Amino acid sequence: MANTILVGAQWGDEGKGKIIDVLTENADIVVRYAGGNNAGHTVFIGKQKYVLHLVPSGILRKKKLCVIGNGVVIDPVGLVDEIKGLRKLGVKVGDNLVVSETAHVVLPYHRELDAQREVLKGKNKIGTTKRGIGPAYGDKAARVGLRMIDLVNPKRFEEKLRLRIKENNEVLRALGAKPLSFKQVLKEYHAAGKQLKPFVANTVVLLHQAMRRGDNILFEGAQGTFLDIDHGTYPFVTSSNTTAGGASTGSGVAPNKMDEVVGVMKAYTTRVGEGPLPTENAEIADLLHGMGREFGATTGRARRCGWFDSVATRHATMVNGIDKLAVTNLDGLDTVETIKVCVAYRHGRARYDFVPNDAQTLAECEPVYVEFEGWHTPTDKARSWKQLPPKARAYLKAIAELTGAKLAIASVGPSRDQTIFV
Ligand code: IMP
Repeated sequence: MANTILVGAQWGDEGKGKIIDVLTENADIVVRYAGGNNAGHTVFIGKQKYVLHLVPSGILRKKKLCVIGNGVVIDPVGLVDEIKGLRKLGVKVGDNLVVSETAHVVLPYHRELDAQREVLKGKNKIGTTKRGIGPAYGDKAARVGLRMIDLVNPKRFEEKLRLRIKENNEVLRALGAKPLSFKQVLKEYHAAGKQLKPFVANTVVLLHQAMRRGDNILFEGAQGTFLDIDHGTYPFVTSSNTTAGGASTGSGVAPNKMDEVVGVMKAYTTRVGEGPLPTENAEIADLLHGMGREFGATTGRARRCGWFDSVATRHATMVNGIDKLAVTNLDGLDTVETIKVCVAYRHGRARYDFVPNDAQTLAECEPVYVEFEGWHTPTDKARSWKQLPPKARAYLKAIAELTGAKLAIASVGPSRDQTIFV
């Protein structure tokens, strides 16, 4: 395994956590490069369930170095809690975790503004996770953000925070929200800063030193292609570059040092939050929810569900340069009579074979479907390509071909051994 970027090829929640965990076996370092604790990566090891929000999934394997890169926005209180939670479950978190000193800090006013803006938007709300992600990246771009390097320097942090709380309290008051107590925020963040100080370092230099030693790096994408701030269904997106390019900017590892891009996609489509989802379908949503599947790992919200959309995944191959595919949740379709796959969109007289940039146009698109016969056989016990029903194999081959990349992995359940290498 060389330097590999793993991205979500849909709207997030593709099952990246599990695939990252599987691929981590052959990696030395796992790097998170974008997003914040809006992400929720679920990994099962045996019967134990782990939900990771900021810490890379590599933490669950011994002797792997985990890096939270400069492109991530960090809620320090959330990160301290996550580390505590992992330690409680017996996971070692110490010198195997390093946090970039230039990663930006999420503050309580970001969360408050996130919530207030959603209220103001009314029916046009984005349906954010309310973790303050948008306002934190907004401050980064506006050059008024606080970084981890500030957080671990109490005096400097206090000075900067005082000014930021003053300005943000004015905004919060104007929006009719309660202003924040500077003292209280300072106390909470000083305590978190103290706990996180041992983890904070120059991760760019560290990663380059590791590459000189010949270490293999796995770049762990969060969210999905269509939640990317540039390439997603704007404005119904998150605020970072979730696509493969974000791995370079979010870590400081140059594009010519990347070797491979793995795209993860479900055998169907899901989305949490608002925004267009052309193949959304109540029947498949009822089926999956009835099986107890497709509830968000971060907010617990029921995910919207639809048929596999190859227009979207083909577009994802284009913007990410996906070489290999991991298809997850195949077993979710085990009982479906006739499976539909979207191969184009129709909008009035226009036919699209790519995802139109205007969210309104996309919302008005009608999917053009082809149909596949269901396999009506449980696949969760299959451990090899041969053990999969022929109709399931045909379906996997077809969606990989339509997506335009090589099928490498099929996943038939949450545990490590429910993984088929093709
Ligand atoms: P934010 O990232 O909290 O600002 O939310 C923006 C949009 O991205 C909303 O539709 C969220 O539901 C969605 N989103 C953010 N993180 C995730 C994720 O990890 N999985 C799926 N959707 C997400």
